[in-house]
Amino acid sequence: MCSSDLLVLLGYDVVKGLILSATVFEEMSNDWRELWKHSLGVSKACGLICEKLRIPDAEEISMAGLLHDIGKVVLILEEPEIYEKVQMGAAKHDLPIELAERKLLGFDHTEVASWLCDRWHLPQRLGVPMAYHHHPENSKNPQMHSVVVFLADNVTKAVGAGAEVNSKVMPIPTIVTDMLNINRDFLEQLVIDLERELQTITVD
Ligand SMILES: [Fe+2]
Ligand SMILES: [Fe+2]
Repeated sequence: MCSSDLLVLLGYDVVKGLILSATVFEEMSNDWRELWKHSLGVSKACGLICEKLRIPDAEEISMAGLLHDIGKVVLILEEPEIYEKVQMGAAKHDLPIELAERKLLGFDHTEVASWLCDRWHLPQRLGVPMAYHHHPENSKNPQMHSVVVFLADNVTKAVGAGAEVNSKVMPIPTIVTDMLNINRDFLEQLVIDLERELQTITVD
């Protein structure tokens, strides 16, 4: 059985349950908690966007949101000291984390995620948002999943859930507003609704 089969078999709720289990969080340092808060926020935001815009595959898109920054998890686990320097560099030079990663490592967490997806044989519907959540416009086949994850990532940063070093909100590319057919009012209401939803997440 490959990893994608496993994800389908387990289902989004079970995977989320595993990730949210108390023992996992008890073991986490503050950095990890912040990353998980952010990931859970993005997952929630994906669900909200899908619900509001009646986008199908909400569960799978929420899973993509939950896993979108998994490249950071690999980097923190594999190279904790270097990643600390990345974070310090981002803070010192006021850089988005992915640029600080590229400066110090020569690649960023989206490239790590892309490699991981190949290794784990994850479906493109999960792999593309992991690889293109900062720039969905650069994907050869821009798809709904990565556009929703991009928006969810930035709205979650905007409400300050799971602060990472320099959680800069990116300008929204036209492809996102065009594919989702959204306007400023939609975004303002999304921020309000997400803030309300996130009050129900307790990982402390
Ligand atoms: Fe990211
Ligand atoms: Fe993110």
